[in-house]
Amino acid sequence: MYIGSNAITRLIDDTSGRLRVAYVACATKLPEMSEPERDVVEFVLTTDVYSEREDLEPDDLPSIYRTVFWENGTIERPLVPTVEATREATGVDDPWDTVSGLMFTSHDDFSEEIKLTDREMAEEWLGKRIELEEILENPTLASIFEDDFDEVSYKRAREQVRPARADRAWIDSLLEEYFAEEEEEEMLDLVDIRAPEEVDMRLDDLVLTEDQEGEINKLVKAIEHRDYLARIGLREIGKLLFVGPPGTGKTSVARALAHELDLPFVEVKLSMITSQYLGETAKNVEKTFEVARRLSPCILFMDEFDFVAKTRASDEHAAIKRAVNTLLKSIDEISLIQDDVLLIGATNHPDQLDAAAWRRFDEIVNFPKPDVGMRADILRVVTRDMEIEDYDPEELAEMTEGLTGSDLRLVLREAVLNALTEERTTLTQDDLVDAVANFEERDNLKNLDMIEGDHDALVAGGTPSADGGHDHEGHDHSHSED
Ligand SMILES: Nc1ncnc2c1ncn2[C@@H]1O[C@H](COP(=O)(O)OP(=O)(O)O)[C@@H](O)[C@H]1O
Ligand SMILES: [Mg+2]
Repeated sequence: MYIGSNAITRLIDDTSGRLRVAYVACATKLPEMSEPERDVVEFVLTTDVYSEREDLEPDDLPSIYRTVFWENGTIERPLVPTVEATREATGVDDPWDTVSGLMFTSHDDFSEEIKLTDREMAEEWLGKRIELEEILENPTLASIFEDDFDEVSYKRAREQVRPARADRAWIDSLLEEYFAEEEEEEMLDLVDIRAPEEVDMRLDDLVLTEDQEGEINKLVKAIEHRDYLARIGLREIGKLLFVGPPGTGKTSVARALAHELDLPFVEVKLSMITSQYLGETAKNVEKTFEVARRLSPCILFMDEFDFVAKTRASDEHAAIKRAVNTLLKSIDEISLIQDDVLLIGATNHPDQLDAAAWRRFDEIVNFPKPDVGMRADILRVVTRDMEIEDYDPEELAEMTEGLTGSDLRLVLREAVLNALTEERTTLTQDDLVDAVANFEERDNLKNLDMIEGDHDALVAGGTPSADGGHDHEGHDHSHSED
């Protein structure tokens, strides 16, 4: 059973009438035979122990309990198990009714707090009923039961429990602390923060070049051994620039890394620096870096990095220039070794970057359009869960020169939807061949349409389908501004 009904939803009704929903999926699994009485006692006992033991930290609480207590980026002692808090943490509707018959519980009518009148008795009672697995999901409990059960160890429980910095609730409480109500909307436009649990991209789903794999491995090692790197004074690490045409997996790799390394993912949308709230932008850039530092270790991802160079070159509004300068200064000051912040920039237009922008990165990772072998691999990955008769990814790969991973996904999507219109969920190789032909046709039309206002397409030349302009996310600003 999942505590689905307990999922926490935060709604921010912004002025444009859009509804922003920050959603915490509570994937915390309850034991199959959940017993309300036991769950409530576990929670109350845990808060009791935690409140008393100063040596315990937020990481010692199950994440669902932490969710209840985060405030301003901290969990303050004492933890008070009010009826409401207990309900939220356990999913039990009437927590006090559930445990009122036990010898060792009481209830304060005024504070609505559930209390233990005899902690030892509570421990004994719970020790007889709780499953080992459950103790191992609760380091605070494990610390008191460690001596009673051979299989229980505090250390093991700590390894199992998700680190506190990965909690959406913690991230939200940090943001509330840094960005006051009025500023929040503006800030949310500029930065998007995801807990690793909310990142749905996996490295397994991505086909990487050898070079990319090498860089990722280096990075993983560097993060693992950052104390050593700090000791020997090696600081020039942890600032990467991903370079390549749209749709080649830059954003996906950055996100997958967040999941792989269990790090929060902070995405700064540089184009948003030009938003209407210019006066505040430089300040918000600073705050964003401050948030990244507080969230650390984390990944700070800056898409559309070419924006920086363009702004420096042109005679933009002074406030924009100020914001960009603040940004560059902040990048200089942040570091993987000192602040535990991994910085990844991405750009579709490396040609527009000036020396000042380049030199801020330690490593450039190239994201080329996939070659024939990679295209076949990408096709295999994206069709992993599909049924396809006479499937021949190599043949399709031969036919799709110039297409990116993103294009290939669109081809597949087209084929699947077409088959569905015929009530088929099994595809054939012919469906895919047709979808490739359709894609190229559509792509030609799209590019013809754009050529009028689009010098890139002409300059980058050759056939329109080879111009690298398959930007299906619409983040490519060069077309409108050049
Ligand atoms: N090498 C790849 N392997 C698997 N999927 C890819 C690859 N490159 C791109 N994709 C897919 O294409 C889509 C767009 O990729 P994205 O990461 O947004 O590209 P970029 O940030 O470079 O524009 C994603 O759904 C991604 O999974
Ligand atoms: Mg991208």
